[in-house]
Amino acid sequence: MNEIRENETRDTDIVIVGSGAAGLTLALRTADFARVTVLSKGDLQEGATYYAQGGIAAVLDDSDSIDSHVTDTLHAGVGLCHRDVVEHVVERSTSAVSWLVAQGVPFTTESAAEATGDDAAPSSQTELSSLHLTQEGGHSHRRIIHATDATGKAVFLTLQQRAREHANITLLEGCTAVDLVTKPSADGTGRTCVGVYVLVQASGRVEAIRSRFVALATGGASKAYLYTSNPDGASGDGIAMAWRAGCRVANLEFNQFHPTCLYHPHAKSFLITEALRGEGALLELPDGTRFMPDFNELAELAPRDIVARAIDHEMKRLGCDCVYLNITHKPPEFIKAHFPTIYERCLSFGIDITRDRIPVVPAAHYTCGGVMVNTEGETDVSNLYAIGETSFSGLHGANRMASNSLLECFVIAFGAADSIRSRFEQTALVDHITQWDESRVTDSDDEILVSHDWDEIRRFMWDFVGIVRTSKRLQRARSRISVIREEVRDYYIKHRVTNDNLELRNLALVAELIINSALQRQESRGLHFTLDFPDTLAHAKDTILSPETH
Ligand code: FAD
Ligand code: SIN
Repeated sequence: MNEIRENETRDTDIVIVGSGAAGLTLALRTADFARVTVLSKGDLQEGATYYAQGGIAAVLDDSDSIDSHVTDTLHAGVGLCHRDVVEHVVERSTSAVSWLVAQGVPFTTESAAEATGDDAAPSSQTELSSLHLTQEGGHSHRRIIHATDATGKAVFLTLQQRAREHANITLLEGCTAVDLVTKPSADGTGRTCVGVYVLVQASGRVEAIRSRFVALATGGASKAYLYTSNPDGASGDGIAMAWRAGCRVANLEFNQFHPTCLYHPHAKSFLITEALRGEGALLELPDGTRFMPDFNELAELAPRDIVARAIDHEMKRLGCDCVYLNITHKPPEFIKAHFPTIYERCLSFGIDITRDRIPVVPAAHYTCGGVMVNTEGETDVSNLYAIGETSFSGLHGANRMASNSLLECFVIAFGAADSIRSRFEQTALVDHITQWDESRVTDSDDEILVSHDWDEIRRFMWDFVGIVRTSKRLQRARSRISVIREEVRDYYIKHRVTNDNLELRNLALVAELIINSALQRQESRGLHFTLDFPDTLAHAKDTILSPETH
């Protein structure tokens, strides 16, 4: 891994901030014509991608169709998906999976899914028609391609390996993007991105990278909530950086809560994939009563917002700490073959899922809103792209359907690569960018200020901006966040940047954008449910916030 040296301005053609599914895909799709630098603030695998379990939604089966996948996505999104974008993404689902297979991702095949012994290991030489398809909530067909229950790990490890092998790709760990460098566009309208400031954690110095294009692939902001399925770095950095650079953001009130995260004092952030319910697992109250049929005709396979709200309702009604997921009626060999990661992880906590029910609770899982982009990942700032969970393309509407996120990462990254390719020759490096100035800051000697604000945001976001909202709770959150934002601003201008205070600064800004978006939506739709406006309005409208008017 190449280091950035102190006081060096590194030049490259494309900086990609983020090494998950979106970032690595864009790197591999552009490296044949450009020098690409990929940044990760932690280890390369520390994004959501590595932890993705269920799989990737794609139309591969003869009995399935593009229309059906589009209809299911529109239905889950409760009237707010952009139909043209949904069609664009779904139509490219097969080619996305073909590309992944060509990269060598070891998806589970039909024959491997049927086997239960050593020969269950998936092969990397697979035909699309031989891939095993599983089922998840909201999908009317089996259309989830997967690598047992660790799809993200298989995708990440394969793409990372391909990226490491490529001479034009430089992967940098421990490098936190601080802010984008922009200048007025040559035509006098708007701004153009010309590089990025990066904190090199090993040296504590901020270096400037000059580039023709920058892509934000920084994942979501679910760390804004106390309980989340996401890894620690999901602090919304890309959304915050894009906003500060002048980009609009949309639909940030739609925070998806996954219905089933493991409830155990030592199981931080461990998800129990929806595919368990797809393969027949039932949700039960502590006394063993099944409850989902009372909430929706699709029962356990209803869209995620409905299942999470039903669990929340039952937990509050009964005053219980969790509900239970039961798959013990399936043969032990089937469970172990299909869900080896979950089986092992639960066993490490003393839960044998072939015999015991799994205690589960909802947790913040996915950020449906983000930086506004088109299907090429282009933002409001020239030469700046946003791809993957950090972006808002219009695909997910008011509630993302299971396994459509990884699909979006690949398809929009393909579009961004095509856009960059078409503009590459006419886009030059800027002559000069200003070095980072830290002449007026000191080292922090009071880190408790950072950790306290971090904890406080995540607690009140959970309590006041969670699964069920009210205007009073949202107002309370707004007054808390405005105090914290002031404290964070004051701290930021006086102290040298660290990974922790950068994450806090970004999380506080994105929390404020989430709260403001939630206050603007005076209806209940999909993931945004408020007791003060329980009805869904006839006309569906995106919530768009602009830095120019805030
Ligand atoms: P990520 O994979 O989150 O990567 C973000 C990258 O950005 C990381 O490399 C991080 O280090 C880097 N980064 C962030 N900020 C900075 C910064 N300031 N400077 C430098 N680097 C930075 N979706 C599905 O479709 N199917 C599934 O089965 C599925 N299962 C999931 C299971 C879990 C437990 C979770 C958490 C999510 C799941 N999702 C699933 C959602 C999906 O995994 C994510 O939406 C998707 O992986 C996001 O990919 P990404 O490339 O946008 O970002
Ligand atoms: C899961 O496996 O349940 C997560 C799928 C997703 O978030 O799309």
